[in-house]
Amino acid sequence: MQTAPQTTDQDQPAVDMKDIVALCKRRGFIFGASDIYGGINGFWDYGPLGTELKNNLRDYWWKSMVTTPPIGPDGHPVQIVGLDSAIIQNPQVWVASGHVGGFSDPMVDCRETKKRYRADHLVILIPSDDTPWIATIEDDEDFLKARLKKVGRGKSLNDFTSKNLTEIDLAEYPKILAPDAKEKGTLTEPKEFNLLFETGIGASEADKTTAYLRGETAQGIFINFKNVVDSSRVKIPFGIAQVGKAFRNEVNPRNFIFRSREFEQMEMEWFCHPDEAQKWFSFWKDERKKFWESIGLTSDNILMRDHDADELVFYSQGTCDIEYKYPFTSPDFGELEGIANRGNYDLTQHQEHSKTKLEYLDPERNNEKYIPHVIEPAAGLTRGVLALLCEAYTPDPNRPSGVYLNFDPKMAPKKAAILPLTAKDGQPEIAEKLYLELREEFAVDLDIKQNIGKRYARQDEIGTPYCFTIDQQTSEDGMVTSRERNTMAQERVPLDKVADFLREKLK
Ligand code: GAP
Repeated sequence: MQTAPQTTDQDQPAVDMKDIVALCKRRGFIFGASDIYGGINGFWDYGPLGTELKNNLRDYWWKSMVTTPPIGPDGHPVQIVGLDSAIIQNPQVWVASGHVGGFSDPMVDCRETKKRYRADHLVILIPSDDTPWIATIEDDEDFLKARLKKVGRGKSLNDFTSKNLTEIDLAEYPKILAPDAKEKGTLTEPKEFNLLFETGIGASEADKTTAYLRGETAQGIFINFKNVVDSSRVKIPFGIAQVGKAFRNEVNPRNFIFRSREFEQMEMEWFCHPDEAQKWFSFWKDERKKFWESIGLTSDNILMRDHDADELVFYSQGTCDIEYKYPFTSPDFGELEGIANRGNYDLTQHQEHSKTKLEYLDPERNNEKYIPHVIEPAAGLTRGVLALLCEAYTPDPNRPSGVYLNFDPKMAPKKAAILPLTAKDGQPEIAEKLYLELREEFAVDLDIKQNIGKRYARQDEIGTPYCFTIDQQTSEDGMVTSRERNTMAQERVPLDKVADFLREKLK
């Protein structure tokens, strides 16, 4: 995110992040990790429904990349294979990638509050007069509001221009009032820090060698490029996809699961001829935008942001972030996925450090030998879950729950619920029979007890697209009542046609 968040948004009813977090806990989507021990900052546990939601997103991404990848510019499906590499690799991998010893994230410390910040996460509000420059944290609107109220001397956001700390000359640092600080000029010069978590390999303390938990899934792909080329029938251009955990010792984990210390990524490295890199960069930008839209993110909430030349890391030949309008960034946007044209930087680095040739001999181009260029669509799986939850959260005062989750049915943890009106008159038996039939094909819930209003409220809050109610009449006419989540519209459906009905609706 580039600009300081503003405080009002006319177009959208404000959804409070606190309500989304509360629903996630109440209904079993996401819990703070180690809850019963007082928690641990930056770590989250996914409950029964959060796991289903995350798996649905993961599986759909895998399908869209590996099982049924998109049709390429030549009218044929592109080729992408899967990988599941180890979380811990030879530490040299991280030296070659630049995560250890090279360029890592610059950090600044506050001498007064002893807090540490990533330099690129601090936004500095610069007034036109000589009052202090206010440092705020880029995507925390509540913090910004509170800070302005406290130290803004009656100024509003419009009275400031904003810049990222990385754009500010060191000579100006004495004017800056750090977050939570009382005195100006307490920020130190940015220093490089390593965000990788260290671990030790070896059972005895004496033999232990340092290794790292992976900071991204991408490096596992680069170091297996040669293995995959040598062992499968892939030919350039092709991709290798991987989903899995990544770990970063983030200085400031914040905004629920947006920035965590343990999270999941869905990354694909697309290897191509250098002359075709720009063409594939555009192709993947389009495809990735379509992907997020196809699972329910509305285009108004998505921003494709091409990085300016001065934002690019030195090896990148183009980067575009797919950003989402999260409630805590609104009306601005925060990163969901990055698509980068990385040139041949990564394979070249690994070739140099491992002393293993990573060139490709191209049979389609007269056996030309080259190090392939890479286009990398790198998405956050857990950040995607957050975007889906934010998009789905729909306050509705006209229903008992006051809110429902408007998930695209593909993503909904449960596709339907079967609810007998009462626990007598043979209704539970009919319900169970229907449940046993439907569960073969769909993720369905069978919920027998409690009053029907409460059961509908629960299904609304977990985003179940359809409820089927069995009532007294069912045993007479063989029909159930279907209730559609968003409209609450009801219709009678024959018991033996419920599976067809659901199949048709979920298409
Ligand atoms: N291989 C390139 C790479 O890892 P990145 O922009 O650092 O690029 C890719 O990460 C995606 O991973 C981001 O767009 C974001 O969705 C997700 N991500 C990165 N850091 C994260 C964190 N601390 N917590 C949650 N998701 C994160």
